[in-house]
Amino acid sequence: MRKILVTGGSGQVGSAVVAAANTYGFDVMAPPRGILNLENREEIAALVAAQPWAAVINCAAYTAVDKAENDAMMARAINTTAPGYFAAETAKHGIPLVHVSTDYVFDGTKSAPYDEGDSVRPLGVYGASKEAGEAVVRAHNPNHAIVRTAWVVSANGANFINTMLRLSQERDELGVVNDQCGNPSSATDIAAALLTVADKMTSGQMGPTGTWHFVNSGDATWHDLAQFVFAEAAARGFKTPVLNAIPTSAYPTPARRPENSRLSTAKFQQDFGTIPRHWHIAIADILADRLGPKQDIGVKT
Ligand SMILES: NC(=O)c1ccc[n+]([C@@H]2O[C@H](COP(=O)([O-])OP(=O)(O)OC[C@H]3O[C@@H](n4cnc5c(N)ncnc54)[C@H](OP(=O)(O)O)[C@@H]3O)[C@@H](O)[C@H]2O)c1
Repeated sequence: MRKILVTGGSGQVGSAVVAAANTYGFDVMAPPRGILNLENREEIAALVAAQPWAAVINCAAYTAVDKAENDAMMARAINTTAPGYFAAETAKHGIPLVHVSTDYVFDGTKSAPYDEGDSVRPLGVYGASKEAGEAVVRAHNPNHAIVRTAWVVSANGANFINTMLRLSQERDELGVVNDQCGNPSSATDIAAALLTVADKMTSGQMGPTGTWHFVNSGDATWHDLAQFVFAEAAARGFKTPVLNAIPTSAYPTPARRPENSRLSTAKFQQDFGTIPRHWHIAIADILADRLGPKQDIGVKT
């Protein structure tokens, strides 16, 4: 089996990559932070040199978008400097690097979904650190694939779905932003996309470099997603709050977010032959995993 090194194996996307890697014919190693701390270049260099890896998939990141505004040094260390180390070290050994990036490289002013060729203009520290991370990957390893994704959710981990499910038990009424639009995306589907890319790169079916967008299909606002989550929870007898649509201005956050986060996956579909599932289907799977099967019973607390 081809051996791959995966970073961020405890995170949403990384754990999904680890779970699915065997299916794609990969034997995966995903060292925890105690063994591979991304602040440490020596640890990165030693691990990359330790095996003739078929590929490295970098899913680790500093993902606390608001916290990053006051923690720019750490955000840059993990999202820019570490990917640069990975790119340089993998290039030394001729190893392909698959690197995950974000919709937050864009400013959200475009009225249509973003294509890979659109100009980047991050609005905050997190987006800027990820955009600079893309640049160093491009500069240091010619054999790279950068996959931008967005609005990542999964059954476990810190994400919007789990926040909504927690708040639904704590509150009777909730306001959720209805003027930011994006593509809710399942970590499982993103992992499959990353493994497809790694598979093509390692089996010589793909030219070396590129940037692609991968998200689930269908648009939503955060309010739409909350509505969907609560409908699925209610169908299982869970208590759900009254949901109000609010503007971003009514929910101020330290980091500005793009109004339009939608990503076009046309290039990914064309190059990899993968048609992303609609987010309704992908997120229903996550909720079935998280909440169990739908049932026709009374209200739970
Ligand atoms: N979450 C989103 O909505 C979203 C949207 C667009 C793009 N993305 C991108 O998708 C990728 C995966 O995101 P995710 O949601 O799966 O992230 P996540 O759940 O927050 O996981 C982040 C991972 O990075 C690891 N990590 C952070 N700092 C580290 C360090 N110093 N040393 C070693 N490991 C470290 C974490 O390890 P610990 O468990 O030890 O902290 C964790 O495994 C990232 O590139 C992110 O930028 C995410």
